[in-house]
Amino acid sequence: MSPVLDPVVRNEWFAVSAASRLQPGEHLFTRLLDRDIAVWRDATGGVHAADKAAWESRSDGECRAMDRYGYLWVTLGEPQRKFFELPEFGQPGRRAIDCGTFGVKTSGLRIIENFLDMAHFPYVHTDILGKEPRTEVREYKVETRTDIGEILATECTFWQPKAAASASDGMLVEYTYRVVGPFAAILYKSNPLHAGERDVIALYVQPLSETECKARMSLLLFDDQYNDGELIGFQQTIFGQDKPILENQVPKLIPLEPRSEMPTRADAMSIAYRRWLREGGLRYGVQKSAPASGAV
Ligand SMILES: [Fe+2]
Repeated sequence: MSPVLDPVVRNEWFAVSAASRLQPGEHLFTRLLDRDIAVWRDATGGVHAADKAAWESRSDGECRAMDRYGYLWVTLGEPQRKFFELPEFGQPGRRAIDCGTFGVKTSGLRIIENFLDMAHFPYVHTDILGKEPRTEVREYKVETRTDIGEILATECTFWQPKAAASASDGMLVEYTYRVVGPFAAILYKSNPLHAGERDVIALYVQPLSETECKARMSLLLFDDQYNDGELIGFQQTIFGQDKPILENQVPKLIPLEPRSEMPTRADAMSIAYRRWLREGGLRYGVQKSAPASGAV
């Protein structure tokens, strides 16, 4: 039997497929939050989703679905806030590239937290996103925007040997991170070829269960040097380095108790993220606290 969902996760939107994967009249089956669902396009291209059993028996059970920013999004509940803005999608000259789907056996919240962490670059993405001895994470600003349900980290800088497929030399890269939902985050970073423009890397996580996910990475960038395959290959290399680290983290469910994992200054983003999850009341993918000793 599927676990009972907390209201926060039930009312979230999740990217469950690249939009290009479904043509009018086609359907696919996938899993979301321990539920089997069907997603389909009608003859006019409209997107729909429903519980798989309901779809098979042609009975009622449709949930909300939409096509946005190159992906098909589904929610099992009633979203409580406006869907996030992404003005770079569709911006003239900017290419939108879906880097594919990565299966990862851990909590989706761990995947987002890892995406927000710069400290691991020199050790996990050695010679690409970081290199010893330049391991310092300089101070940056973190702001939790409760009005729009986002966390923003600005003025993040990190020295990277090869910041992008198009980078030929090491450079000090400036990052801005946006957490736009518990399971979705967007990174903006300096473009090595186009001064003043920032590459956008979005990470959308689809939790199949509390400890099993599909992660999708979307690039929105100005790059006239490399073809899609080369850019996808670069991101797949990076994610391939993160995957075993993520899958070996114990416990798989993220602990949200304030003192559960020792914070350092470099973890300011992670601390804000965990606090935001805790205060929002999310339970799915979160380690359930052990009963106090002596409790019956
Ligand atoms: Fe990483």
